[in-house]
Amino acid sequence: MERIFVGVAWPYANGSLHLGTMVGCLLPGDIFARYHRMKGNAVLMVSGSDEHGTPITITAEKEGVTPQEIVDRYHAEHRKNLDELGIKFENFTRTSNPFHKKVVKDFFLTLYEKGYIYPKKIHAFYCNKCERFLPDRYVEGICPHCHGKARGDQCEECGRTLETIEILEPKCKICGSTPVLKETEHLFFKLSAFEEKLLEWLKDKDYWRDNVLNFTINFIKSGLQDRAITRDLEWGVEVPLEGYENKRIYVWFDAVIGYLSASMEWAEKIGKKDEWKKWWMEEARHYYFLAKDNIPFHTIIWPAMLMGHGGLNLPYDVPANEYLTLSGEQFSKSRGIGIWIPDILKRFDADMVRYYLSINMPEKRDTDWRWDDFVAKVNNELVAIYGNFIHRVLTFIRKNFGEIPAYKKGNEEDERVLKEVKGLFEELSENIEKCQFKEGMKKLMKIAQIGNRYMNASEPWKLIKEDRERCESVMNVCARIVRVMAFASAPYMPRTADRIWRMTGEEGSIHEQKWEDAMAEVGGKRVEAMPLFKKLDLDEIVKKEEDAFSKLDLRVARIARVEDHPNADKLYVITLDLGEMGERQIVAGIKPWYKKDELMGRKIVIVANLKKARIRGVESNGMLLAVNKDGEAVLLVPHAEEGSRVYVEGIKAEPCKELAFDDFKKIKMVSKNGKIMYQNRILMDEKGPIEIDGDVGDGYPVT
Ligand code: MF3
Ligand code: ZN
Repeated sequence: MERIFVGVAWPYANGSLHLGTMVGCLLPGDIFARYHRMKGNAVLMVSGSDEHGTPITITAEKEGVTPQEIVDRYHAEHRKNLDELGIKFENFTRTSNPFHKKVVKDFFLTLYEKGYIYPKKIHAFYCNKCERFLPDRYVEGICPHCHGKARGDQCEECGRTLETIEILEPKCKICGSTPVLKETEHLFFKLSAFEEKLLEWLKDKDYWRDNVLNFTINFIKSGLQDRAITRDLEWGVEVPLEGYENKRIYVWFDAVIGYLSASMEWAEKIGKKDEWKKWWMEEARHYYFLAKDNIPFHTIIWPAMLMGHGGLNLPYDVPANEYLTLSGEQFSKSRGIGIWIPDILKRFDADMVRYYLSINMPEKRDTDWRWDDFVAKVNNELVAIYGNFIHRVLTFIRKNFGEIPAYKKGNEEDERVLKEVKGLFEELSENIEKCQFKEGMKKLMKIAQIGNRYMNASEPWKLIKEDRERCESVMNVCARIVRVMAFASAPYMPRTADRIWRMTGEEGSIHEQKWEDAMAEVGGKRVEAMPLFKKLDLDEIVKKEEDAFSKLDLRVARIARVEDHPNADKLYVITLDLGEMGERQIVAGIKPWYKKDELMGRKIVIVANLKKARIRGVESNGMLLAVNKDGEAVLLVPHAEEGSRVYVEGIKAEPCKELAFDDFKKIKMVSKNGKIMYQNRILMDEKGPIEIDGDVGDGYPVT
């Protein structure tokens, strides 16, 4: 028996989970853990909601609620969704709980006492308008390394972690103005002290994924800087030292310690207080599952923190994934591009999604989620090969024998097929052990293919009349293949595996079985036969997406008056003329980009049926549409009369009375060739295509 620790990156509790998180972290971690549990290894898999830091406070400010409200809402949703997805943790907790905070403070103090944390006066960005220091995501600008878009502590493009003040052309996220540097004191973690030790530790990591190892080594070799681990925030874990009452611990420093605190909390919960030590202080292998933007935190910062602390196990492997794109575009919570888990769970069987994500996992390079490909893979592989084989075998057995017949008249071909299946099953096991999940899934599909081919070639429907005993042996072989498939499916499609398990007359759950028993004898078990999956209809799926669009009431509006918002620097209060629909007032965040006189009299496009909202105390009845060019708002330019409709051809407008903002977010319009496209259709009014106020490139979302 081995001890395996599985750490899954903690999703921020500032929005719904999306497929990117699922494929990057949750699913590979779950496949791996489920496999090892069946292997009889002692698995401790933990994660939780990442509830601190500027991702949370910014979302809270946007919605005008407290950070606590945000994290409570999304933590509850995450828990529910994980359950529905079949992701099984020993402990899925949250960083806002007191247990975690205590562990963080103790960890912090240990490092402090050992001299790895020290205070230093620095210059940090301060916004004179907002009268506050601007931590992390409150500053946006340009990455000094790759000149891509940088947000606070990390560059979105090259993935480097940044000290916020390195950012070029910084802007305050709240008001859009340029912050100034001002002196303040922060606590620093002596990361620089770990260069040598980290390189030494990495020496035997030749089994890591190339991209992870190379990124890590280059990162260290380009020189490790000490990092500020406190922030000017009110939301977060308190600093356990005097004089820092107004600061909080940096979210990343707090979150990675979650791996440890969640293990301790688990031990407490099962009533064996010291049980966690078996994973952290005795021999155990630690695996961490995450997407590539999280690599440096898990291969450099967290290991350095662990080294500094002493006495705790370091990561054994960090098989980080690349990204999943959506029809070519990168998932992004902040840009509203993605497929959200609550939504997908309403529409599809979770195991279908797990199947497609497994066969399409971005292990070595980015992969793309495309609806037509999803439907094709599900229909042509999962349903037509995998599901079909199992269904044929079970219906045939049920109809002709009732129970799985014995293997009395086998031949060489049977033995060959069984050997081949066994070989593939062993390869699949090895694939999972090496975190090659896509390859493993391919082996499973191959087994299904072999099963189908064997059954076709053996023609049991003829044998049943000509040679019943031979027919029995053939069906016994088929049933054994089904059994192997159930085992092989267990890590990937846990519910489906259990259904197969019970349909083949077994009791309990397959997840309680031993992996070694996959090839065991099956004769004598009573079977049932029910189809596992239904085919998907692409037209229906696409139409559902269109339905979302048809609910929009898009209108041309003319700006009649513009005033400053009384309580917000980035916002205007705008009065609109909608012709026969009358006048109305909206609040819009375009002040950094448009002066009042540039707006007066101008025509814009609005969502007229968006649910009324109060934005910083002022009522907003509708929302204007603009292209979001990396945060900059660029207005749309319609030409028709005010009050008239804006639409795309082929989708009938059937506006609902009140559209929720979340539903609006799901509708993805993007810029292309100076026009706005919705699923390859152009956004129009009576006078022709809607234009954009200036030259923006292709692929920017309309928000
Ligand atoms: N919340 C972070 C993200 O979504 C990941 C945190 S992982 C942990 O990028 F190591 F901090 F737990
Ligand atoms: Zn500001």
